[in-house]
Amino acid sequence: MTPSSKQALLNWFDVNQRAMPWRLTKDPYAIWVSEMMLQQTQVVTATPYWLRWMERFPKVASLAEAPLDDVLMHWQGLGYYARARNMHKAAAVVLSKHGGVFPTSYDHLLALPGVGPYTAAAVSSISMDAHRAVVDANVIRVLCRHEGIEDNPKLPAVQVRLQTIADANLDEARPGDFNQAMMELGATLCTPKSPSCEGCPIGNDCIAKASGTPELYPLPIDKPKAIRRTDVLVIALCDGKTYTHQLPQDGLWGGLYSFPRMSVMDGESAIEAVTRLATDMFGSDIQQVVELGRIRHAVTIYNVELIAYIVNVTEFEADPQNWRSLSSIDTFPMPNPQAKLWAKHKPALLSGRLPVSQPALEL
Ligand code: ADE
Repeated sequence: MTPSSKQALLNWFDVNQRAMPWRLTKDPYAIWVSEMMLQQTQVVTATPYWLRWMERFPKVASLAEAPLDDVLMHWQGLGYYARARNMHKAAAVVLSKHGGVFPTSYDHLLALPGVGPYTAAAVSSISMDAHRAVVDANVIRVLCRHEGIEDNPKLPAVQVRLQTIADANLDEARPGDFNQAMMELGATLCTPKSPSCEGCPIGNDCIAKASGTPELYPLPIDKPKAIRRTDVLVIALCDGKTYTHQLPQDGLWGGLYSFPRMSVMDGESAIEAVTRLATDMFGSDIQQVVELGRIRHAVTIYNVELIAYIVNVTEFEADPQNWRSLSSIDTFPMPNPQAKLWAKHKPALLSGRLPVSQPALEL
């Protein structure tokens, strides 16, 4: 990138940057929280999460001392829960290894659980102007277009090349702002489908702009087609309580609380599946199965239709400690689709009014 493009990018950033609450601080802990949230998440979505988080865990010590459930509650809905679990672990490391002072050096940051080269570069450059270039999906798109890179940016050799270009471009005096300017350009003007090249501060020497078809960069990566799946979910009711259990820490939605849930097998109907699941969990005491609602969501490579059923049970079967009062269910962190279903149907369930739905099955 020419020196005049670099300067133009910084000038553009000074005038056009979006207001973000973490841009008002140099606190490396607060910046780390924002960067962890912004992976796979847009600024508008992350902002209220960041504000709630900083109110509840204003210092790294408050995060380290909080129960993991509380941390997961403040992450609920952001997905990729391993990030929140790693943040909790990282906070403990900052207390034990760094005397509670959040590190700002790239190497110390990189050694924290859940911190990779992207996050270490972002936090060290933004909080103390370390000379480390950030390469995230937005920056990759900007660089592929600006440099006219036609190779697959997922290939390791291309990633090395992109990091080398980003390092060479980085502004000596303002590396933190330069990194943020590159990300901001990718998020606002140099967008995937219809880039706004007219207002672009680095358009003068951009190869993709000169080609007339900037949207063809970078090379589109074939995504595997989503596989459809139907899951059933049991909301068991017994004497004002319902059953949820904590999912294993190392799996999908690790550490969150879930109603009993299962995928429908080939050749099986949803009713057959939910009856099998409810009988496995609660024995033959189940009385009536009523469909409560449906929600579609994507998870890993699946496009899932989740069907929730109310199942009346006469005894506290399965693990007795997993039966919780209906009013307490949403104080436990839950996978987002279940949290949404619960929020929608909670008033009816709490008031004892079941949804206006035909009984799906009388047993
Ligand atoms: N995406 C991730 N971190 C960002 C930042 N600091 N500024 C703009 N976009 C970002």
